[in-house]
Order: sequence, then C-alpha cells, then structure tokens
Amino acid sequence: MTDTPARNLADPAVVDALRTALGGLQPKVFITLGSGLGALAEHINDPIDIPFTAVGLPDTTVEGHSGAFRAGHLNGVPVLVQRGRIHLYEGQPIDRVVAAVRAAAGLGINLFVVTNAAGGINDTLAPGDLMVINDHINFTGMHPSIGHLPPVFVDMSDAYTMALRERFIAHAKAVGEHVQQGVYIGFTGPSYETPAEIEMCRRWGGHAVGMSTVNEVIAAVDAGMQVFGCSLITNVHKVGGTPTNHQEVIEAGDIAGPRLAALLESWLPQLDL
Ligand code: HPA
Repeated sequence: MTDTPARNLADPAVVDALRTALGGLQPKVFITLGSGLGALAEHINDPIDIPFTAVGLPDTTVEGHSGAFRAGHLNGVPVLVQRGRIHLYEGQPIDRVVAAVRAAAGLGINLFVVTNAAGGINDTLAPGDLMVINDHINFTGMHPSIGHLPPVFVDMSDAYTMALRERFIAHAKAVGEHVQQGVYIGFTGPSYETPAEIEMCRRWGGHAVGMSTVNEVIAAVDAGMQVFGCSLITNVHKVGGTPTNHQEVIEAGDIAGPRLAALLESWLPQLDL
C-alpha cells in the first residue's frame, strides 16, 4: 500500500460535540449501517445514543434510516455506529454527506466499516447475498475533496484494504457463511437505474449498484482510515430491466441484515485494534 498523507477535514464543532457526548469512550471502529442493517446497533452494550442533530449534522429523511449515532461496546470492541446516513439525493452538500466519517477520523478512529443495501447486476448474485466490496466506481459525478486546498492526490489502489477483506472472508468461511465479492458502482439516485445503465455497469466490471458509500470511502481514505465494506444484495437487475422498489429493499435488508451483523460482531474482536 502506498502511503498518502492523511489530512483532517473534519468539522471541529462536530468532533467536539461527539467527543463530549461519548464521555470518555474512545471508539476504535466507525460503522455505517445501510438500509435494513439496524440489527447490529441492537447488540451494542451500554449504548450512548447521539442524534445527528445533537452534534450539528442534518437529520436523514429516508425510511429505514434513523439518523443517530450509537456508541458503546460491540462484543467488547468500542465502536461508534452511524444508524442511517446522509445521501447526496437528499440535497445536502457533499461535505455534509461525508461529515460523519470525517468526524470519526477526527476522533482518532482508524477503521471504517461501511455497509449498504445494493442491487446486484449479474446472475451470480441473489437477493439476500452478502457482497464484500473489493473496489468501487464513483459514478456520482461528485468528489468530497473538491475545493479542499491544497489538493491531495489520494492513492485509491487499496481503498478497500485487501488484508481486511481476506480476513473477513476467511472468518465467514470458518463460521460457514458464504460471502460474495465484487465491485460496487455508486450512483446519486434517487431513481433506480435504467436497463441501459445496468448494462453499462456490467460492461464496466461492476457487480452491484447503490446510492451511497463511494464518497464516504474516498473521504475515509483521504483521512488516513482503513476501510472494510460489505453490501447486502437486496434485489437483482436482470437483463432487459427488473422493476425495483424501496419496500423490497427494506424487506430484504431486514431478512439478511442480521447475518451481516452477526459476522461483523464475531469478526471485529479478532482484529488487532
Ligand atoms: N439500485 C440502487 N440502489 C439500491 C438498489 C438498486 O438496485 N438496491 C438497493 N439500493
């Protein structure tokens, strides 16, 4: 891995507010939970709940996203969990979309675990599958570092840290859980993709599409964090077009989310954090 200089673009007011709310707890992992993945937060011991609005961040507006942080211990590991996230399609500036991950880095957290709901785009994926994100294509047309000067030319060649992927996949295998791997392509949404866009994604080497994650991961790498990402495949786009709706995404997330939650919960204590 090439070393790129990390930099701190966190809003100091958000970092200070979070630090105060944490009351001495120093989280080691920042986890963003996507649609339907709330189960993990239920397993946090001695939870501290911090609404986004309490630390100066905008609330979320999407069904299935509750707009709060929860901190505490997950299977003994001190974590800060983001329940729900801000999406570009909510009309917030990109600095707001990545404000939470930057604040996490500002708190001294070095590991970002990002999860999302995503649509599979080839026959090897089925609803309910877990897909470890190997890499991404940022098709949002945005970039969180634009305007932060001087420019830093961040290395993205190992954005989804390979060593973490290998360890997670080995762990999943050891506990008898099958996980897929693939490339996530990030769109802004909020419309689902046209058949032509899905075909483009297939030809580009993508495996899943979604409306989040890519800018958060860029901001995390820019801030010097290691990243582990996993998509929950909630629906699959077949050739020629497949109707997709938010309700099925939420329902598939609710069914498969607890499997990902259990894997993360049993895996994180194995890392040297
Ligand atoms: N497209 C974009 N975002 C999504 C999808 C999809 O098919 N499924 C869940 N989130």
